[in-house]
Amino acid sequence: MPRPVTLVTGASAGIGAALARVFAAKGHEVALLARRALQLTTLADSIESAGHKRPHILAIDLARADASTRIDDEMRGRDLEPQYVVNNAGFGLLGRAAELDRGEQLAMIDLNVRVLTDLSLRFVDSLTRQRGGILNVASVASFLPGPGMAVYHATKAYVLSFSEALHQELAPQGVRVTALCPGPVVTEFQARAGIPESYFPRFLARSAERVARDGYNGLMRGQRLVVPGAENKIATFLPRLLPRALVLKFLSAGARKQSQSNM
Ligand SMILES: NC(=O)c1ccc[n+]([C@@H]2O[C@H](COP(=O)([O-])OP(=O)(O)OC[C@H]3O[C@@H](n4cnc5c(N)ncnc54)[C@H](OP(=O)(O)O)[C@@H]3O)[C@@H](O)[C@H]2O)c1
Repeated sequence: MPRPVTLVTGASAGIGAALARVFAAKGHEVALLARRALQLTTLADSIESAGHKRPHILAIDLARADASTRIDDEMRGRDLEPQYVVNNAGFGLLGRAAELDRGEQLAMIDLNVRVLTDLSLRFVDSLTRQRGGILNVASVASFLPGPGMAVYHATKAYVLSFSEALHQELAPQGVRVTALCPGPVVTEFQARAGIPESYFPRFLARSAERVARDGYNGLMRGQRLVVPGAENKIATFLPRLLPRALVLKFLSAGARKQSQSNM
C-alpha cells in the first residue's frame, strides 16, 4: 500500500509555503511543488529541522501540458499516493482585460482553472482510499466580478463554484472538499500581479500563516467554505444582498480611483 502524502502546489512562497508548514506540523508527509527548486529545498530543510518528516520536492512547471502526468509518475516512483491535494498555485494580473497581455491572461486561466481541475479529479481514487480531501485556494474575489482584475476574479469564481459542487459530489465517498477564500495576504502575489501596496485597506489583510491554519482546520472539519477574518466574511456576504448592477458600479468606481491614485 503506497504511503499517504499531501501534495501542495505553489509551495515555494506565500500561502502555499504556510500551508505546507501547517500540514507537516500536523504530522502529514508533504510533497512540495513549484518551479523554484531552491526555495522548495530551503522550505524542506526548515520543516525537517523543526522535527517533522522531510518533505518531497517536485520542481515542476504546472504550465506544461504533461505536468500532472509527471506528478502522478513521481508519486508512483516514490511509492506515495495523495491523501490530500492542496491546489494553491495561482496568480493574478491588475489592469483592464482589453489592455493586459492576452497570452498572460490565458496562462492565468490555464493555471488557476485547468490545472486545479485536473489535479482535483486525477487523484480521486487515492483520496477516497485514504479518506482524505482537496483544499482549493479560491479568494474573496470569487464572490465578486472584478473590473480592473476581470480574468482573475472570473478564475476564482470558477474555483469556488467547482469546489462547492465537488464538495457535494464527493461527500458520499468520504472525500472532503473545501474552498479557501482569503482576502488580501501580503506575499509575492502583489508584485506578480502589479498591485501597489496601497491597493487594499490594511485592515482586510491576514497573514499567510493565519490563512493556512484556518484552511487546514476547515478542511479537517469538512467545511465547504472557509473565509478567514470577520471583515472578509462581511465583504463576501454583503454583495449577495445587493443588486449586481450596484455592486459593479461601486467596484468600477473603486478600481478607477485606485488607478488614478497610482498614476
Ligand atoms: N496573496 C493574496 O492576497 C491572495 C488572496 C486571495 C487568494 N490568493 C490565492 O492564493 C494562492 C497563492 O497565492 P500567494 O499569495 O501565496 O502567491 P505567491 O506568493 O505569488 O505564490 C504563488 C505560488 O505559485 C507557484 N506557481 C506559480 N506559477 C506556477 C507554475 N506555473 N507552476 C508551478 N507553481 C507555480 C509559485 O512558485 P514558483 O514561482 O516557484 O513556481 C508560488 O509558490 C493563489 O491561488 C492566489 O490566487 C492570494
